[in-house]
Amino acid sequence: MNFEYTEEQKMIQQAAKDFAERELLGDVIERDEKSEFPTEHVKKLAELGFLGMMTDPKYDGGGMDTVSYVLAMEEISKIDSSVAVVMSVCNSLVIWGIETYGTEEQKQKYLRPLASGKKIGAFLLSEPEAGSDATSQRTTAEDKGDYYLVNGTKNWITNGNSASTYIVIAQTNPEKKHKGINALIVDKDSPGITLGPHENKMGMRSSDTHSVMFNDVKVPKENRLGDDGFGFSFAMKTLEGGRIGIAAQALGIASGAFERALKYSLERKAFGTEIFNHQHVAFKLSDMAVMIENGRNLCLKAAWLKDQHLPYGVASAMAKQYCADMAMHITTEAVQIHGGYGYVKEYHVERLMREAKLTQIYEGTSEIQKIVISRSLLK
Ligand code: CAA
Repeated sequence: MNFEYTEEQKMIQQAAKDFAERELLGDVIERDEKSEFPTEHVKKLAELGFLGMMTDPKYDGGGMDTVSYVLAMEEISKIDSSVAVVMSVCNSLVIWGIETYGTEEQKQKYLRPLASGKKIGAFLLSEPEAGSDATSQRTTAEDKGDYYLVNGTKNWITNGNSASTYIVIAQTNPEKKHKGINALIVDKDSPGITLGPHENKMGMRSSDTHSVMFNDVKVPKENRLGDDGFGFSFAMKTLEGGRIGIAAQALGIASGAFERALKYSLERKAFGTEIFNHQHVAFKLSDMAVMIENGRNLCLKAAWLKDQHLPYGVASAMAKQYCADMAMHITTEAVQIHGGYGYVKEYHVERLMREAKLTQIYEGTSEIQKIVISRSLLK
């Protein structure tokens, strides 16, 4: 077993680190306070090829592997998760599904601009009454012959406003339950689509989260992904990869907080010495380092399995659950090590702690990951 990164993976990791430190760090606190979408930053991320980094170059993607994606996500999330989540949703929840299940026409029309980062995508699964319970879709996609008529409301949509291309999960045949659900590619500027206000979130405040309402929206039949009724499986398969991205995001939040806590412990003096020299601080940092290493290994294993075309759904659920819960713990400890300074914005760790909380909630709560993992134990 080889734990060493390739030269290419190291280069991608370094490029992501440089980008995050050079482009994101300077105004991350201000954007968080103002809840301001990082338009220019995302454009630069697209120029680096990070929005479609795993897509085949023949569709204008970067052709990189999932391990590189994990490494890049970690570096960007150390500094700014609001940018990292744009990258994660585009790569994992939108582009992957079109590349894997789309027709050649769908790929030419939708995949190319997404993979090159000219356009942003969003994944519309959650609803007011279908969050964890994703089979209970109320949004309908009525079959009208050569088009679907979509009605309903989607909630908590990351990139809701900034995206041009939506993947919408909707019910066509309620009598068939989850086997009646379809996944449709929908242009955001289609007549009948309206947005709710930007959500005033606790963390990742500069990422753009909206509810999206559909009122008699016509979607051409050729925009359906996969066969009729494939939509729920499509969503579940998409989330398997999405969870690797969010696990890596949580990992980055944790390692970002850890690096800050370590640095602070070597600068701050109390009782006549740097606080690192107090064993309770050094041991805390030691425990944090072990947990982060565990989390990184889980992420990399899930990514490696995906790259080898082996089943990775359970591995991605394990990585997501562990890293999200770990990030919550590590960021709380990082605030504690900083004492009063940890509770104010300039030291970043309070923001990282708020960001960590969301990783325990979106793309399936930690409890949902436990459902996936525990069911796998019975197989
Ligand atoms: N791949 C393919 N098919 C799958 C699957 C997978 N990973 N998991 C389940 N399925 C299939 C099952 O085989 C089953 O099909 P059959 O009846 O044909 O066998 C069908 O889906 C239903 O499966 P379950 O009976 O297991 O369904 P369930 O109702 O018990 O729920 C669940 C399963 C795991 C809880 C699922 O509903 C789930 O993952 N919920 C969480 C949804 C979620 O993550 N939402 C996040 C929103 S996206 C987001 O946050 C994006 C963002 O903006 C950042």
